[in-house]
Amino acid sequence: MFYEKYISKNKTFIDETWKKLDEKLSRTAVKSRDKIPYTTKDGVHDDHSGNPFMWTNGFWGGLMWIMYEATGNEEYKKTALRSEELMDKAFADVSKLHHDVGFMWHILSGASYRLTGDPASRNRNLIAAMTLASRYKENGGYIRAWNGTWFGRDNDGWTIIDCMMNLPILYWASKELGDDRFTQIAMAHADMTIRDHVRDDGSMNHIVAHDPATGEMIDTLGGQGYAVGSTWSRGASWGLYGFILSYIHTTEKRYLDTAKQIAHYFISNVADTDYLPLVDFRAPEEPVYYDSTAGAIAACGLIEIAKQVPEHEQRPYIAAAIKILKALEEKFCSWDENEDSILQMGTEMYTRGIHKPIIYGDYFFAEAIAKLRGSEFNPWLK
Ligand code: GLY
Repeated sequence: MFYEKYISKNKTFIDETWKKLDEKLSRTAVKSRDKIPYTTKDGVHDDHSGNPFMWTNGFWGGLMWIMYEATGNEEYKKTALRSEELMDKAFADVSKLHHDVGFMWHILSGASYRLTGDPASRNRNLIAAMTLASRYKENGGYIRAWNGTWFGRDNDGWTIIDCMMNLPILYWASKELGDDRFTQIAMAHADMTIRDHVRDDGSMNHIVAHDPATGEMIDTLGGQGYAVGSTWSRGASWGLYGFILSYIHTTEKRYLDTAKQIAHYFISNVADTDYLPLVDFRAPEEPVYYDSTAGAIAACGLIEIAKQVPEHEQRPYIAAAIKILKALEEKFCSWDENEDSILQMGTEMYTRGIHKPIIYGDYFFAEAIAKLRGSEFNPWLK
């Protein structure tokens, strides 16, 4: 099989990178145990445990679960459990929660429940799933993204491509409760995303505004990318990974086809930049802004696509995933003991937060390397 051939050809890279990940993370797991990091300042993890509503707060604990599952090192488990505990503050005011509860809890409490069987973790994940389901708008068949306003505009009726990654918690809730309401919502949202976000060439709209009364699409916004009509690369990677996850959960071929369509667009757009994704695939040539996180997320999705397609289709997906990960490791990873983060050169959005370490970069980079080592533990899948 092409998949296995590529893995064995790249075994040295995979094993050496994993060793470096484990060496570094086993130190930071202890050092940053009481924090929920987002980035680093002067090499030291910052701490967002005081703001439990932040959409990125699940990644540190999620990363710890990936490492624990692969190594059995109890230090990782202790930090993951501590992270879960710190996140409980969010349940004191659920009105402040938003659609990113999948990112926040499924890879943290969902993973915890799978690995420890703790009913308290199951309960946390169910609260998150029910919160997400409650954001469903029947008119238009979509999940509302945020609350209030965004850059001064009322965002009632807005959907964002990122939400494809929040759907796995709904598929999980349906299986856990034997109740397909959650899956119906997830599939309605995925179908809306195909209709309103994914363009014919596999590029996509980051934000779509729907008429809150009728559900009709009325506008698209540039969001975190360069401009309206451009393609924010992390948005593309959320779509790529999100659709293959929806396919694995539902076996609906249209989700596989959409994941492949986005993958082809993504791969063709990194080929000319040495497999290091630019922040936006349709930005002007200058300035050159990269987003390493888009590469790590896309690599995870490409590996999953390669595992789903017949043997003769596997090559472009697994080859691109490995090229991206090698490029990230060579150019953008820091193995320096004095720097708590690993993947550098992430970017929040085209206009802000350029070239910095961001916690989900480390999370997806580790998830991808763990997959290549043969781990079947995918926190988004169960
Ligand atoms: N989900 C927001 C982002 O990717 O920055």
